[in-house]
Amino acid sequence: MQMSNLQNKRILLGITGGIAAYKSADLVRRLREQGVDVRVVMTAGAQRFVNPLTFQALSANPVHTELLDPEAEAGMGHIELARWADVVLIAPASANFIARLAHGLADDLLTTLCLATTAPIAIAPAMNQQMWQTEVTQENLDRLQKRSIHQFGPAKGGQACGETGFGRMLEPLEIVDELSTLFETGSLQDIKVLITAGPTREALDPVRYITNHSSGKMGYAVARAAAEAGADVTLVSGPVSLSTPPGVRRVDVISASEMATAVMEIVEDCQIFIAAAAVADFFCPHVPDQKIKKIGEDEMTITLKKTPDILASVAALPKSPFTVGFAAETEKLEEYAQDKRKRKSLNMIAANRVDDPALGFHVDENALHVFWEGGEKELPRAPKQKLARDLIELIAKKFSQQK
Ligand code: C5P
Repeated sequence: MQMSNLQNKRILLGITGGIAAYKSADLVRRLREQGVDVRVVMTAGAQRFVNPLTFQALSANPVHTELLDPEAEAGMGHIELARWADVVLIAPASANFIARLAHGLADDLLTTLCLATTAPIAIAPAMNQQMWQTEVTQENLDRLQKRSIHQFGPAKGGQACGETGFGRMLEPLEIVDELSTLFETGSLQDIKVLITAGPTREALDPVRYITNHSSGKMGYAVARAAAEAGADVTLVSGPVSLSTPPGVRRVDVISASEMATAVMEIVEDCQIFIAAAAVADFFCPHVPDQKIKKIGEDEMTITLKKTPDILASVAALPKSPFTVGFAAETEKLEEYAQDKRKRKSLNMIAANRVDDPALGFHVDENALHVFWEGGEKELPRAPKQKLARDLIELIAKKFSQQK
């Protein structure tokens, strides 16, 4: 059972009116054990079976129940909630809910969210075996399947009503297992990918250094997404306070020159190189052994030298991998990014504006404009993890076309 790729995922758990709703309490616990951020939405029917307080306590988040609730809308409104989710999972999904979803109704919060989200939707049906078998339910399920809505279960077995047959909701751990397969795209299966992330730190003396605002979040999100896509990922990381994504090999470095050495060593047998690190442009070539004293002059001069351009060096290798660079710009995004792509001979460049405080450094959201020879794609504002997944899918597509 492989479940670790659920860490930090945002699951919107919809609970509808069925006795299996009691199992969803355990499901929330199991999801949180995997590091999932769970937000629960309950239909009116679900609240007859289990009190929202139970889910509030277990998910550690407020439970959403009303579409037109000014208080909830002032917190995380329904559109925000729809955008927040990496996956919408409805467990249990009742026959009534399946019918409403199949026909595109938006008459309560949960159905509205299902229409408003671009995230994948999965249902874990639970109902009486006769309700399951009946033709109209099966027709509704066919419709959902055509719309690429994932279906987990149901299982066969004894039911709360005393009957036996198909219609039992899967057990929480089985649902968690199914969920984790949604994040395995396989688009980079067994491809060796090298990624740089984070800032670098250039020493001035034994206690001081120059660095930049990079948090490493984007590079780490890209590493996680590449691993989810089946790649064999090595992450060369500058100093950051982030944990290593599951399945990723991490090599820690401090300075640009250490990063360059590590990359040049590892890149040889890699097929894709993604440079998401904010490498310092200059370093101090003569670091004194002792701390610089501030006695004497009001001014001081430090001579800095250009750091090696890791990305350009990799792209210039005789057998260079598919290279992807990042460009953080405050103006003329397209012009500067395209110029950088050509100058460094990159296969692809992902540009983002860093003049908007809501995007870029340190924050969880970003937006990218990706360019390659003869094409471009805008990846609109989204949580960095979601964006990283879209970027990886784009890289996988272009990489396979090139091959
Ligand atoms: O030229 P600029 O620094 O803006 O280019 C940014 C891109 O180049 C990023 O992908 C960054 O990781 C990479 N880079 C590098 N080595 C450097 C400077 C930048 O790999 N010394």
